[in-house]
Amino acid sequence: MKFEASMFEGELHLIKEFLLSIDVQESENYKEWYAYYVKIYGKKYSNFDLFTIYSLVYLISQLFIVKFVLNQELNSNQVKITPGFLNSIPQKVKETFNFNTDIEVRFFSPIINALNDLEPEKFDHLIHYVVERVNLIDSQPEYFFDNTVQNIVHTYIRHKSGEFYTPPFIVKKMVEESYVLGEKVIDPCCGSGNFIIEIIKTILSANYTKRERIEAIKKLHGIDINPISIYLTKLNLLYLLREDFRHLNSNFVTTDFLFQNNADIKDTFDLVIGNPPWFTLRDIESLNYQKKIKKLAEELEIKPLPKNVLNIEIASLFFYKAKISLLKDNAKVFFVITMGVINGSHAARFRNFQGFHNIKLWKFAKQITDIFNIAFICIYAQKSEEDRTIPNLEVPSFLFSVNLNGKKLNYYDSVNLSLEKTEELVPYGTEIKGNKHYTNKLITKEKQQQLIPIKTSEYKKLFHKGADLNPRNLIFIKKRIRNDSLITINPDPRIFKRAKEPWVKSEFSDEIIEKDYVFKVVKSTELVKFYVFDFYNVFLPLEKENLSFEYHSLKTHAKKFYDKINKIYLNNKKDSTMNESLMDNLNRWAKLINTRQISKIKVVYNNSGSVVNSAVVQGDFLVTGDLSFYSTNNMKEAYYLTAILNSPLMTRQVQIKKSSRHIFKIPFEIPIKIYDKNNENHRKLAELAKKAHNISETSTVDLIKKNNRAISKNKIQSLLSKNLAPILNEIDEILTNDLKT
Ligand SMILES: C[S@@+](CC[C@H](N)C(=O)[O-])C[C@H]1O[C@@H](n2cnc3c(N)ncnc32)[C@H](O)[C@@H]1O
Repeated sequence: MKFEASMFEGELHLIKEFLLSIDVQESENYKEWYAYYVKIYGKKYSNFDLFTIYSLVYLISQLFIVKFVLNQELNSNQVKITPGFLNSIPQKVKETFNFNTDIEVRFFSPIINALNDLEPEKFDHLIHYVVERVNLIDSQPEYFFDNTVQNIVHTYIRHKSGEFYTPPFIVKKMVEESYVLGEKVIDPCCGSGNFIIEIIKTILSANYTKRERIEAIKKLHGIDINPISIYLTKLNLLYLLREDFRHLNSNFVTTDFLFQNNADIKDTFDLVIGNPPWFTLRDIESLNYQKKIKKLAEELEIKPLPKNVLNIEIASLFFYKAKISLLKDNAKVFFVITMGVINGSHAARFRNFQGFHNIKLWKFAKQITDIFNIAFICIYAQKSEEDRTIPNLEVPSFLFSVNLNGKKLNYYDSVNLSLEKTEELVPYGTEIKGNKHYTNKLITKEKQQQLIPIKTSEYKKLFHKGADLNPRNLIFIKKRIRNDSLITINPDPRIFKRAKEPWVKSEFSDEIIEKDYVFKVVKSTELVKFYVFDFYNVFLPLEKENLSFEYHSLKTHAKKFYDKINKIYLNNKKDSTMNESLMDNLNRWAKLINTRQISKIKVVYNNSGSVVNSAVVQGDFLVTGDLSFYSTNNMKEAYYLTAILNSPLMTRQVQIKKSSRHIFKIPFEIPIKIYDKNNENHRKLAELAKKAHNISETSTVDLIKKNNRAISKNKIQSLLSKNLAPILNEIDEILTNDLKT
């Protein structure tokens, strides 16, 4: 039975009304709850609505206990559910099973006491609803709260703490693979307890004496930052174990695993298993907690380069923290984790796997990963005493799929995963920066064989990102000439297609400016192989000769217009953006006002996408931040570079190495030589590129004309890939030769 959020509307409404009537938000209890939960979910979501939801979950749990633990029929003559009866349940289960959850539910249990004050009719009504829900549980009651929390607490709230529980069929497979009866186990982020539940099922089905069973059960532990998670885990275990639960109560603790340093549990576990939260440093609201995470990442020796710090994955800290604070030597860790740790540049030091050996990955076919809406893997490793020799990493990877006969996979389905293929993964390279090792993305050995050995080209330093000319709705213009010096401008309609809030409006119309302030700009959207087929006009309050910004020397109209758009910018920009003016924003990182932008010959290529396109741009064009460029005064060198950047060989290298949409500096990880006019290969490449440019230009211009300008970039590209194929093959051949020498 699936429990949709809408099913609980009636109860939620009644509880909310009741909590409002007792002014719960003014109570110490609520304030204490808020102070704790704001650390988990942030200010926006730790609100009265969430408190109401948890209060309801707690109330439901009491009736769950009556039915599934105390085995009393609800809705019968056996029990009359009164506030007094509800109040007696916690004491009863404490006495009978040592089920002590006073700490975990301290925020919610007072609500049950307060129900005494609810009018009897409303109380009966509420209980009636809840009993109905509990009576609907038809199978696997141990997943009822998992199901309920996932449906009743909104996804965007759960994202704040990574509360996306693991489907039982994956948990089962992981437990089968890693758990050996009698081992000491901990799930450091146990949620509603799915992993421990599965291990308990394994223990219960083993051929054990009572004593052996209890010994095995006593060795199970769990941690979660959310008290409700620990409460629900304990409750599920109580349901499965009844009497035997009494040995477990104190093994489950509410705490922040990353910052706990309990000496009693250090280095004592045989297996750490679980699904740590999948959020990144960027998602954390508290600056103080962000700082603590950065410090911990450094202590664990996995902190990425500064440019990737905001992408630190919290789950990757769990992996290394488990090693230093939980695992015995040679003990096992097995986590569900995002695919990012295998291919993201933010996880380059994670992939050093320092202090681990026997690393294995499980990957899953799309029908399975779709359950989480995010690509995930399972990662297994064992703690090792010795440090690894970093470049020798080899990681077997197992791909699982499931035969569903065309049906969609459901979270609670019990399915058999079948092994589709096994591959050996290796990093495509390792780097040392500032004394620290960084292990590049893991790729298959097969792909590794297609790679040209990594060597940084000297051109890497010479190419620079263009200027992020934003917000586009304020400066990208269409112009009409008024007289020799003045023009009328309106926003360029083309830029609204991809505009994002709050920069989606047309903010001016028929403004007048002096024509000296219009600059021609190229963007990646019009870049195809060897050619840029269109450009944009942009208003910039800069001097044409040197791009300097002298506000007081601006001509009258331009000054007035700049004041206008600057005001709009300041009114709409994010509070966290430090810029004091529109001009500050346009010249971020000094990418606009520099001599490179003035040069008359530029080689450009796209910073993102799956194919590298490059062209020589000649004349007074500025370059936007979605392109990188190099300024030269040597046309031959410029063509030579476009030959290399446009080559199929280059795109293949980039595709293997890149870990997101971004390309940025990857092209320069192959040893592209500085252009040498005495090198025959270089001259030939330059000539071929010039020819290719002519083909591209004629084919594109022709196609655009034929279609009256109504032609998509995709169509142009597919025509070009046909027309340029022979030249590109020739380029690949010469380039391969040149790179070898
Ligand atoms: C992805 S859920 C996994 C739940 C569980 N492994 C399962 O599959 O049922 C992650 C859990 O981590 C918990 N969590 C988040 N941050 C934590 C932290 N710093 N320490 C301990 N637990 C944390 C969340 O409350 C959530 O229950």
